[in-house]
Amino acid sequence: MSSGLLAQRAVLVTGGGSGIGRAAALALAREGAKVAISGRRRAEGEETANLIRQAHGEAMFVPADVTRAAEVEALVAKAVAAYGRLDGAFNNAGTSGETARTAECSEENWDRTIGVNLKGVWLCMKYELAQMLRQGGGVIVNNASVAGLVGLRGQPAYSAAKGGVIQLTKTAALEYARMGIRINAVCPGFVATPMTEAYARDHPDFEPWIRKVEPVGRLGTPEEVAAAVVWLFSEASSFVTGHALVVDGGLMAQ
Ligand SMILES: NC(=O)c1ccc[n+]([C@@H]2O[C@H](COP(=O)([O-])OP(=O)(O)OC[C@H]3O[C@@H](n4cnc5c(N)ncnc54)[C@H](O)[C@@H]3O)[C@@H](O)[C@H]2O)c1
Repeated sequence: MSSGLLAQRAVLVTGGGSGIGRAAALALAREGAKVAISGRRRAEGEETANLIRQAHGEAMFVPADVTRAAEVEALVAKAVAAYGRLDGAFNNAGTSGETARTAECSEENWDRTIGVNLKGVWLCMKYELAQMLRQGGGVIVNNASVAGLVGLRGQPAYSAAKGGVIQLTKTAALEYARMGIRINAVCPGFVATPMTEAYARDHPDFEPWIRKVEPVGRLGTPEEVAAAVVWLFSEASSFVTGHALVVDGGLMAQ
C-alpha cells in the first residue's frame, strides 16, 4: 500500500495476535504501514499478518516474549533488517494477572504482572529508542489503561504497572523530545477483547456492571482504541508528546 496516513512507515506492534494489538496492526496497515507483529503465540500472530497480507498490506510475525531482553533486542533487529528502519512502535502486550486484593496478591502474580506490563514496556522502549536515535526520529505509543489513572479494586499489580507505564511514557517523552521522538500512551477503558471476555466468563455481573458505570453504556471496541493509536502515530499529532490519551467512553469524566 503506497497511500494512507502512514504510507511506507515501518512499525512494530507487540501482543499483535489478539484484541487491541490485532486491531491496531490492521488499522496501521490500512494506513499504509509495514507492520512487524510480535507476541509469544505464533499461530495468532501469523493470523494477524495473514489478514494484513490478504488486504494487500505488508506484515510479518516475529515471536518474542516482552519480558526477555534478548528476545526484544532480536525483535527490533529483525524488524529493522526487514524494513530498513523503525518509524513507530505500539507497546501493547499485557496481562491482567489474577484478581486478588493487595493483601492476597501473591508474589508470583505481582512479579509476572509487573514483569509483562511494566518491565516489558520499558524493555521494548529501550531497544526501540536505540534504533530511533540511530535513524533520527520515531513515534512510540504505550498501551496503559484507565487503571493507571485511578485504582482498580482486586488488581493492585496491574494498576501499579499501568500507572508506571504512564510515568515512564512522560519521562521518556521529556528525554527525547528534542531528538525527533514522540512518546505517548493510550489509556483504554473497558474494551471487548479476550482479556475482558475471560474476566466476564468468571464474573457474570461484569457486563451489566459495565452498562451501568460506562457513560456510553457499553464496552469499547478494539478498533476504537486502534483509531487513537493511528492518530498518535500520524503527523496529525505532531505537537503531542508525553500525553496519556484516555479512550474510555467517558468513564474517567465521572
Ligand atoms: N481490554 C481492556 O479492557 C483493556 C483496557 C485497558 C488496557 N488494556 C490493555 O490493552 C493491551 C492489550 O490487551 P487486550 O485487551 O487486547 O487483551 P489480549 O489478551 O487480547 O492482548 C494481550 C496480548 O499480549 C500478549 N502477551 C501477553 N504476555 C506477553 C508477553 N510476555 N510477551 C509478548 N506478548 C505477550 C498476549 O498473547 C496477547 O496477544 C494490554 O496491555 C492491556 O492491559 C486492555
